[in-house]
Amino acid sequence: MKFELSEEHLSVQKAARDFAQDVLKPGVIERDTHQKFPTAEIKQLGQLGFLGMMVDPKYGGGGMDTISYVLAMEEISKVDASCSVVMSVNNSLVCWGLETYGTEEQKKKYLVPLAKGEIIGAFCLSEPEAGSDATSQRTTAVDKGDHYLLNGTKNWITNGGTASVYLVMAQTNPEKGHKGINCLIVEKGMPGFQVGKKEDKLGIRGSDTHSLMFTDVKVPKANRIGEDGFGFKFAMKTLSGGRIGIAAQALGIASGAYELALAYSKERKAFGKEISKHQAIQFKLADMATEIEAARLLCLKAAWMKDQHLDYGTASAVAKVFASRVAMQTTVEAVQVHGGYGYVKEYHVERLMRDAKITQIYEGTTEVQKIVISRAMLA
Ligand code: CAA
Repeated sequence: MKFELSEEHLSVQKAARDFAQDVLKPGVIERDTHQKFPTAEIKQLGQLGFLGMMVDPKYGGGGMDTISYVLAMEEISKVDASCSVVMSVNNSLVCWGLETYGTEEQKKKYLVPLAKGEIIGAFCLSEPEAGSDATSQRTTAVDKGDHYLLNGTKNWITNGGTASVYLVMAQTNPEKGHKGINCLIVEKGMPGFQVGKKEDKLGIRGSDTHSLMFTDVKVPKANRIGEDGFGFKFAMKTLSGGRIGIAAQALGIASGAYELALAYSKERKAFGKEISKHQAIQFKLADMATEIEAARLLCLKAAWMKDQHLDYGTASAVAKVFASRVAMQTTVEAVQVHGGYGYVKEYHVERLMRDAKITQIYEGTTEVQKIVISRAMLA
């Protein structure tokens, strides 16, 4: 067993760290306050190769491994989780799904610009009445021969307003249950496709989360991913990898808050000395560091398993449950270390605390992850 990172891993980590500190940090409070999507920053992230990191270079990607992706996600999430969720959805849910299951034609048309970061994508599974219970899709894709007629509503879609390409799960054969679901590639601008309201969220406020409406949208059959009825399996397989990205996001939110708390504790004085010299603060910092290290190892293990082509579904769920819990605990404690300063925007930790919560909800709640883990244990 080897715990060191390679030279290549270290250089990806440094590039992501520099980008986060130099480019993302200066405007992050303003973007959060005004719910401003990081348009220019995402464009730059794409030019640096962070939006299609794991895609084969022949399709415009970076050809990197999942460990590199986890390292980059941690660094970007330390500073701006709104930016890292865009990165995570594009890499894990959209590019990975297209590269793994798309046809050559779909890869050329959609994957190449997505991997290069020229456009971004969205993954559309959740509905007003199908969140955790994802088999209960009400959106329909009626087979009309050479095309599907798509009707329905999707909710809480990350990149909902800014994406150009949408992977939409919809029910074609209700009598077949989840085996009747298909995944269709929908383009922005297809007649009948409308972007609905933007959500006003607690955290990750710089990301754009929308509902989407489909009314008699004609989607060519050539835009279906995989065989007829493969849509639910496609979504589950894609989400297994997506959960590594969100676990890494949670890890980054936690380690970002910890680094801020550590630095602050060395500056702030109370009762005649730096607060880092008080055991009450030292114990908090020690707990944070311990839990973050454990979360990091779980994220890297899940990534390593994916890179080794092992079955990583349970490992990604374990990493997400643990890292998202650590994100919540650490950010709350980081605010506490900062005292009153932690409660105001300028010190960044209150934002990280708000951002942390979503990591226990999206790409499968903590409870969904526990279903995945316990089923594997009891199988
Ligand atoms: N890989 C491959 N196949 C899988 C799978 C996986 N990881 N998980 C399930 N399946 C298969 C099962 O084998 C089964 O297939 P068969 O019938 O052929 O045996 C089929 O899918 C149905 O599986 P289940 O019976 O386990 O289905 P279930 O109804 O009990 O649900 C669940 C299981 C784990 C709760 C699942 O519904 C789930 O993951 N729900 C959460 C959905 C989710 O994560 N939503 C997030 C939205 S996307 C998002 O948040 C993105 C964003 O914008 C940030």
